[in-house]
Amino acid sequence: MASKTGTRYQAPRGTFDVLPDAARARARIEQAAAAIFARAGYEQISTPAFEDTELFERGVGRSTDIVRKEMFTFEDKGGRSITLRPEGTAPICRAYVEHGMHKLAQPVKLFYAGPFFRHERPQAGRYRQFHQIGAEAIGTDTPLADAEAIMLLADLLAELGVPGVELRLGSLGSLEARRAYLEELKAHLRANEGDLSKDVRERIEINPLRAFDADDADTQGVMASAPKLVERLEGEDAEHFAEVRALLEAAGIAFEIDPTLVRGLDYYTRTIFSFVCDRLGAQSEVGGGGRYDGLIEQLGGSPTPAIGWAAGIERILLALGEAEEAGGRDVFLAVADPGQGRRALALAGELRHAGFSAELDLVGRGLKGQLKHADRIGARHVVILEADGSAQLRDMQSGAQLPVDPADLVDAIGGEGA
Ligand code: HAM
Repeated sequence: MASKTGTRYQAPRGTFDVLPDAARARARIEQAAAAIFARAGYEQISTPAFEDTELFERGVGRSTDIVRKEMFTFEDKGGRSITLRPEGTAPICRAYVEHGMHKLAQPVKLFYAGPFFRHERPQAGRYRQFHQIGAEAIGTDTPLADAEAIMLLADLLAELGVPGVELRLGSLGSLEARRAYLEELKAHLRANEGDLSKDVRERIEINPLRAFDADDADTQGVMASAPKLVERLEGEDAEHFAEVRALLEAAGIAFEIDPTLVRGLDYYTRTIFSFVCDRLGAQSEVGGGGRYDGLIEQLGGSPTPAIGWAAGIERILLALGEAEEAGGRDVFLAVADPGQGRRALALAGELRHAGFSAELDLVGRGLKGQLKHADRIGARHVVILEADGSAQLRDMQSGAQLPVDPADLVDAIGGEGA
């Protein structure tokens, strides 16, 4: 924004700064996820923030909104087309093939957390740079793997205390089995073309399934009477879906079958799922995913079945609707005399090595100002270092103040249960 005094910079549209209060809440989510993943034998992977554009064109699919409209794509100085990653699954499959991970014990179970980029119209819960936590189990086609993946996300949302969550479950069948159904669906769409939104009409041939996701009321009317894929599943597809449902029931994970569930990426096969939260507005999905049995082959690897999901950190935070409490400090080292700064620094080091959080005055406040500051940052104890080398320990909650031997500070504070 330009002003008389010059240019005032702002974070780009659809992005935001993560300030310390918000960073704490995010760290709690990432730590909870990392603990859940570790207990289930998932290991962390990190891939670049940008990839060759073609990876997403091939992986996510040219007919998807993501590839058609939402990618941050640019040419680098070497003339290559580069795209900021809009999602994590295609990059992880690229890494799986590139590093020959098929030689490892299967399935390879990976998790990740980091920023993703989509040029969408920003609104609550929808940003141009957002953050996902995700998990992928590559090299297994069993319904058990689907149920376990779903269970991990259910556990994470439960542990974080995300309220009002509901699991929607669907199946897209295998790629071959889907073909016959898609012809039937296209015929239904063509027969009702006049009632479809422009976007859906233009994509009858390339992505008819997306019509189930349309916001437009007339299109929704057409879709209410459309044939549904879950009702057409046969043979192994039907068995797989039945087994996933039975496993979820046995694990006590509640779900709704949603015959209209579709997802915004082309790679899904068989099981798909979505965790929605009634505290969120239009962008109600906190996380979701599904099976993608054809993706690795699509990207040049051997046929390798896989399942995974991703959850949006910002959506989880919105659903929780709370800012994390400030952390508080164990000790603030105040100096009654500016000459005591050196001692304060040494004691802060000692306390920190002993595992306490400790701060000291870094801006030369008077003693009164330091006590006020200690209160403001939520210090539980203040140590006042006197000019004669003695010290006082003040309990900030009770206001009680006693002399303390600086050599015994760690014990004195530990004894008070800091
Ligand atoms: P997705 O459904 O596109 O799936 O995104 C997963 C989650 O990321 C969503 O449920 C939502 O919480 C969050 N999200 C997506 N777009 C935005 C946005 N613009 N602003 C804020 N949050 C957003 C995938 O990305 C797949 N890679 C998931 C997956 C992994 N499937 C298999 N494995």
